[in-house]
Amino acid sequence: MDIPKKLTLSLILLISLSMLTSCTRKGTKYSVFNESKKENIETLKHVTETLVPPPLLPKFNQVAQGEPEVVQVKLTIEEKKKEITPGVFTWWFTYNGTVPAPIIFVHQYDYVEVTLVSPSTNTLVHNIDFHAATGDMGGSEISYVAPGQQVIFRFKAIKAGVFVYHCAPGGIMVPLHILSGMNGAIMVLPREGLRDENGNPVHFDKAYYIAEQDYYLPKDNNGKFKDYPTPAAELGDMTESIKSMIPSHIYFNGSDGALLGANALTANVGEKVLFITSSANRDTRIHIVGGHADLFWPDGSFANKPFTDFETWPVPGGSAVAALYLFREPGTYMFTDHNVIEAFAYGARAEIEVKGTWNDDLMTTVKKAGPIE
Ligand code: CU
Repeated sequence: MDIPKKLTLSLILLISLSMLTSCTRKGTKYSVFNESKKENIETLKHVTETLVPPPLLPKFNQVAQGEPEVVQVKLTIEEKKKEITPGVFTWWFTYNGTVPAPIIFVHQYDYVEVTLVSPSTNTLVHNIDFHAATGDMGGSEISYVAPGQQVIFRFKAIKAGVFVYHCAPGGIMVPLHILSGMNGAIMVLPREGLRDENGNPVHFDKAYYIAEQDYYLPKDNNGKFKDYPTPAAELGDMTESIKSMIPSHIYFNGSDGALLGANALTANVGEKVLFITSSANRDTRIHIVGGHADLFWPDGSFANKPFTDFETWPVPGGSAVAALYLFREPGTYMFTDHNVIEAFAYGARAEIEVKGTWNDDLMTTVKKAGPIE
């Protein structure tokens, strides 16, 4: 072989090798069985994420800036009595005081460092199980806290998607705590952000977190919902009432009207809104009245190509899902459980107030209602 030919061959080999290594490094050859790179925790950037009450999300970049980070979040457990609809009280078990608990946001391969605090004003033992975590019952085995204790633990977010987290203190306490409101979600975005159905980057203008909460509140002999002085007293009766499997109340974001009227979600025509919806116990199905899911990630799994143009999308119990919609018309939209009994006879629905200019091309009145001609 002459020298120029040898040089050309070496050059081709070098270019191929560098392309191969860069693909692997950038994660373009993603496989669910890839081992993620073990990081030196001490040298990673540590950031504190300030959690906010749902339906809002914490501030974040959709595309990761640089190397994986250690994202530190603090969840404070609070047992508190809540009037979920006028005259009906129950003991809420919460992380940070809200039902659902706040949504946590990280990127794939970030480390989530959770400080779980249970002030001494609480009465029960709690913990936390992250569906986004790998091993040890989602972290629930190492996160038990009694009143007056705190625990710090860390997991690596190796799967991209939206995932539920909830209290899981063992046995019958698992449903009792989840059904008392102790559930939330975490969003693990791919480091390069979301991609549409054609594999192109897609950004969202805003995001909302909405959770369906089912309650099974015990009644007294007169059929009136009981009001309990302590959480433990209510849990005793609830151990029986949950077995009916017929909810007494179903709401979005914990209480009657939490996302209706003055509490409605807002958006503008031309905005792409990411809706993250979870249900920690029962299956549900979501529909935007007058709209769609342009993109829908079943089970909230972002490694998959999103489905397109869904009219109603499923949320299996124990999961969070994500749907992206571009609002094209102004007005009030209903964001609803499309078991319409649950939406209207119970209350599992939200509203979205969308501002902008009406587009006659998409819908218009041809002739107003009047006598039949
Ligand atoms: Cu709990």
